[in-house]
Amino acid sequence: MGAMPNPSSFFLTTPIFYVNDAPHIGHAYTEVAADVLARWHRQAGDDTWFLTGTDEHGQKILRTATANGVHPQEWADRLVESAWKPLLDTINISNDDFIRTTEKRHEEGVAKFLQKLYDDGHVYAGEFEALYCVGCEEFKPKSEIVDGEGAFVGEKVCAIHSKPLELLQEKNYFFKMSAFQDRLLALYEERPDFVQPASARNEVIAFVQQGLEDLSISRTSFDWGIPIPWDDAHVTYVWFDALLNYVTAIGYGQDDAEFDRRWPASHLVGKDILRFHAVIWPAMLMAAGLEVPDHVFAHGWLLVGGEKMSKSKLTGIAPSEVTDTFGSDAFRYYFMRAISFGHDGSFSWEDLAARYQAELANGFGNLASRVLAMNAKYFEGRVPAAGTETAADAEIRELAASVAVRADEKIETFAIHEAIAAIWELVDALNGYITEQAPWALAKDPANDERLQTVLNTATEGLRVLAELLEPVVPQATAKLWSALGAEEALGALEGQPIREAGRWGRLPAGTQQHPLAVLFPRIETEEKGK
Ligand code: ME8
Ligand code: MG
Repeated sequence: MGAMPNPSSFFLTTPIFYVNDAPHIGHAYTEVAADVLARWHRQAGDDTWFLTGTDEHGQKILRTATANGVHPQEWADRLVESAWKPLLDTINISNDDFIRTTEKRHEEGVAKFLQKLYDDGHVYAGEFEALYCVGCEEFKPKSEIVDGEGAFVGEKVCAIHSKPLELLQEKNYFFKMSAFQDRLLALYEERPDFVQPASARNEVIAFVQQGLEDLSISRTSFDWGIPIPWDDAHVTYVWFDALLNYVTAIGYGQDDAEFDRRWPASHLVGKDILRFHAVIWPAMLMAAGLEVPDHVFAHGWLLVGGEKMSKSKLTGIAPSEVTDTFGSDAFRYYFMRAISFGHDGSFSWEDLAARYQAELANGFGNLASRVLAMNAKYFEGRVPAAGTETAADAEIRELAASVAVRADEKIETFAIHEAIAAIWELVDALNGYITEQAPWALAKDPANDERLQTVLNTATEGLRVLAELLEPVVPQATAKLWSALGAEEALGALEGQPIREAGRWGRLPAGTQQHPLAVLFPRIETEEKGK
């Protein structure tokens, strides 16, 4: 049976994370970005599926478990239950599925995929000697092998992990990846948005142009992995196993209808693992006769002292350290707004506290509470009707339509920070509008009643637009705002509002009964954090 094309399908993935340690804000950053995109597309009515999960095989996990005196499966179970799944609640992630590479559905899918490549002649046995980084779980290319410093002077170390490389020599199975060099280069050429942003695309093209080698895809020196189906003396190379999560989670080899409905995916990854996703993964898919992904987007790193925040260098900040003080909405807003998506960025408590106060509490939160308080005071908590529109009102109406369109365009290209910046133009414009129109002054003279109604109608409708557009970013605050606006009763659930029509004016009916609004972003004492 031929697959039905599914043009509205939006299948989004994060990397599956190693369970050698607990998550830090770098992992949370990827999860939040993916969540904003998934919520946006879901609210737009796209057939959305958001997958995340954990990468549990390989030497890195085996060594950590052994050092802690437990079996790797027990270690993985412990970390998944105590750290990786709870992370999703900490930052309010709306994933549809969570895959673990030790699950049966995954192990069976990997075996099927490998067998197909073997049967079709893409795999051969060979011998190999090269420098391996256990941190990366990768035989390193020359460009990422550097001279060690400090304790490692005289040794070759990994450019990312700064730890010594290990010389491995083994009999392995190899995937004939070199055969796909030309097809990969043609792919990058024909589909300029396959790898994003442009800097990532350039890096990938330069790497492939240097020449692709075949890829070692099995190991014999340890057994924590998925057995090679035709030779159980070998286990599957952990990256070959891990990348396949993106298809085993949606029914590869098990449920063709589900697979056809979801595949291909958009992959969100950190730039540390760009090559795996933009070179190895599409080559694997080409070999298996499957479609390549829609997009691979590589975001930048959160830096500490100019270096990538990392588990192995012990520079990680736990996400709960941030959310315990500021809440999950502020976490989500801050990282999505303050860092250009696709570039590196530094985290700072001062910047977070300053943006929380200026943008969330004073900018958005205050706007909402002022408008609702005036509706309560002057109109018994009902949305007033609009009268004659002035130029100032029209400007707000037109801006709302324009930011909704622009934000959607930015989300389509993964420019999350620009989407939020566009939406914030409306926050700022509404604050300016209220200051200029001064409804409290209008309220002093009954002759101004129609004008007062028009001004507060405009401001209230502006809040309705903001609630819809900001739901993907700050779902808790917008849920409170939505019910305070009375929009729940008038228009239905916030998540059900068609986000691409958020800018259509006049949707919240006059007369809608509103409800008291709890403070959206309470004042926070941050002194000890700021030091
Ligand atoms: O690489 N800044 O897992 P991993 C931003 N299991 N993002 C960061 C970050 C930082 N400082 N540190 C980590 C693996 N990340 C493999 C993936 S996928 C088939 C297998 C995020 O636990 C970012 O998304 O090392 C990065 O790519 C990922 O965590 C690496 O997680
Ligand atoms: Mg890593």
